[in-house]
Amino acid sequence: MRIDVVSIFPSYFDGLTLSLLGRARSTGILDLNVHDLRDWTHDRHRTVDDTPYGGGAGMVMKPEPWGAALDDLVSREPVAARPTIIFPSPAGEVFTQATARELSTREHLVFGCGRYEGIDERVFEYAADLGEVRLVSLGDYVLNGGEVATMAMIEAVGRLIPGVVGNPESLVEESHEDGLLEYPSYTKPSSWRERTVPDVLLSGNHAAIATWRRDQQIERTRRRRPDLLPDA
Ligand code: ADE
Repeated sequence: MRIDVVSIFPSYFDGLTLSLLGRARSTGILDLNVHDLRDWTHDRHRTVDDTPYGGGAGMVMKPEPWGAALDDLVSREPVAARPTIIFPSPAGEVFTQATARELSTREHLVFGCGRYEGIDERVFEYAADLGEVRLVSLGDYVLNGGEVATMAMIEAVGRLIPGVVGNPESLVEESHEDGLLEYPSYTKPSSWRERTVPDVLLSGNHAAIATWRRDQQIERTRRRRPDLLPDA
């Protein structure tokens, strides 16, 4: 998969050289490139923002650098090869494991990280001529810009690309993969500070363990995230 990120703070993404995604980049599974939006400005101050038409607080990102960045990063390929262009935004659709799974099947993702009060609306219209545009929110709260949301989305999507996580079985038994929260995990020692591991996990009875884990998943989900359970 190819991923391009456009941001005025490219060093936010230095952490993506670490761990599983760092290894996926060095083995060529993931072709991730981070770009500085200011490289597509032409004035002495490398200006990316201006005051909003109609007035109001804050600044708006100018369309010209974004247009030039998209032109450079999105080759005018046949419709089937067009990228998915993601703009993180608290006004977007909420990002879920299903979104991550869907995006992990794409050939090319472009993330446009907005700052200030947002990006000139015409950029989204222009981008829609170049690819599939998605405005995506990490959740119902406001961040200072799209960078942290993009990091989270790249990690959630990247780990679903075949070969990124060494043991694919570890992808299956995760919170949200089957609509429930994950069951509790324990390791040695079996007794620690007078707290013991549930007997069933030491029993060697695989059917009983599977039943216990499923019950734990349902109980945790009911307690912490009842919104995930069907009404019945
Ligand atoms: N930018 C600012 N807040 C955001 C959020 N909640 N999700 C995605 N991008 C954002």
